[in-house]
Parts: sequence; C-alpha cells; structure tokens
Amino acid sequence: MLGKETKYWNEVARRRQRWLTRYPTYELLAEHKRKTYIGLIARWVEVTNNQKILKTDLFPEASGLAQVLFDIAPDNGNVIGIDISAETVEQAKIQASRHGVDSSKYLCCDVRQLPLQDSSIDLVISDSTLDHFPTEADIIVALKELYRVMRFGGTLILTMDNKGKLGEPLRSLWIRLGLAPFFIGKTYSIKELKSALQSIGFDVEDTTAIIHQPMFFLKRIVRLLHRLSARRFDPLIKKILASQDNFEKRRTKYLTGLYIAAKAVKRGAS
Ligand SMILES: C[S@@+](CC[C@H](N)C(=O)[O-])C[C@H]1O[C@@H](n2cnc3c(N)ncnc32)[C@H](O)[C@@H]1O
Repeated sequence: MLGKETKYWNEVARRRQRWLTRYPTYELLAEHKRKTYIGLIARWVEVTNNQKILKTDLFPEASGLAQVLFDIAPDNGNVIGIDISAETVEQAKIQASRHGVDSSKYLCCDVRQLPLQDSSIDLVISDSTLDHFPTEADIIVALKELYRVMRFGGTLILTMDNKGKLGEPLRSLWIRLGLAPFFIGKTYSIKELKSALQSIGFDVEDTTAIIHQPMFFLKRIVRLLHRLSARRFDPLIKKILASQDNFEKRRTKYLTGLYIAAKAVKRGAS
C-alpha cells in the first residue's frame, strides 16, 4: 500500500515544484494561508519547546510556502513531520535547513500507520491531510491512529476540506471533470467531523471554519493581475484577503469556509 501511494504523491511533489516555478504569484495566497494557520494554532494552544509535536503532512513545508512548522516551533527539537511522499520529506528537510530548523525527525510514513509509541505526542497538527483518502473508513483509521499516539491531555488541531460549504457542488464537478491538481478524497461537514472525533473518544473543545476566499477564481485573478501589472495590485489583494477573514466571525462561517477546523483533546487517565 505504502509503495503505490508514495509513488503517486512523489509524482505530485515533483509536479508541484514545476508549478511553483511557473506560477510564483501563488506566494501571496500561500502567505495568507500560512498566517491563517499560525493564527489558529496560537489561538488554540500554547506551543512550547519541550512539547512533542507531530504534523501529519509536509506539503506546505516542502515548498517553503504556507509552511507553519518552521514558525510555530523553530527551536523545538521534538518536532516530527511526516508525509507519505519521500520526495516531499526530502524537500521539507531542505527548506528546514534554510530556515535553520531541526528536521532530523521528519519521516516518510503513512498517517494511518505511525511508527510512534502510544501516548507519546503532546500536539498534533493535521492540516488537510485526512481529506486525501478514497474512503471515510480511511479517515477513521487515521483519527484512531492519531488518538493512539497522543498522550492524555494532548491536543489535536485538525483541518479538512469543508463538505458543507456553498461552493461544494461546483468543487465536486471540478473534481469529477479531472481538473484537480491531485487526488482529493472524502471529507466531512462540521457536524460529521465532530461526531467522528467524539466517536473515537476525543473531546471537541472548539471548531471553526477558515479561508473564506473562492480560491479557484482568486488564483486566476491574481495570476492575471500579475501579468497585467507586475505586483502593483499586491496591496489591494492583501487587503481583500484580510477582509475575507471577517467571515470567520459570522454565523454563516460553515457555509463560506474552505476548511473546517477542530480543536480536540484526548481526555482520560494520565
Ligand atoms: C495535497 S497535500 C495537501 C495538504 C496540505 N497540508 C495543505 O496545505 O493543503 C496532501 C499531502 O498529504 C500527503 N499524504 C497523502 N496521503 C498521506 C498519508 N496516508 N499519510 C501521510 N501523508 C499523506 C501527500 O504526500 C501530500 O503531501
């Protein structure tokens, strides 16, 4: 199983390096995503240097764009970053060394089968990894595995594609037409996510929805603006991105957010 999926995601990682050179303008959107994640993590947990932290994929770190690991715990030597793609792990290690960050615990493995001891991790950050599986049963296997490796009292910060958003029918069509740049899997609405986490034993302490921009259109608009007028419109684009963050404060956030997010704690005996 690992072999076939590793091969597939290695190919995605190689392709992505080519897109990044072709479309450097994605930087602006990636930077906004990075700041959103850093803000969410800071709001939900206090990250310290002696915590054992696990991140469930290294896709953003590998590109050096939208990466969170190098900023939230730059001096922590206990950060385990995993990815099923060996290529992505290697690229993330190169980026980590550029940022002066220890990457000795970055591993190529499957989040559904972690080579980690029971109850050994204080904080898990899973940013849209579990929405790349073909079945919901895979999501449950991965959540159970995260629960197993987390210590009692440990926190999971999880995001997934938001199945409940208004744009979902269009997105499903885009996937069905084969236009997605990589495999997009099953995902949940916020209600389903909460119930899956609770069924495994997690306490869901908070939830939200993040990134409220129609990314498909925005990527194309930003590309066009850059072509027309280099970076003259960057301040305006940044302003628009920042203003969209206010949607998170509205009651309609689960209709507009691209990702649902949950803070879940493993309670029980310590
Ligand atoms: C398309 S990326 C998206 C996730 C990314 N965190 C983001 O910022 O949107 C999916 C990542 O998950 C990794 N991945 C896919 N299946 C995995 C698995 N079973 N275990 C660990 N990583 C996996 C892929 O190699 C890839 O780096």
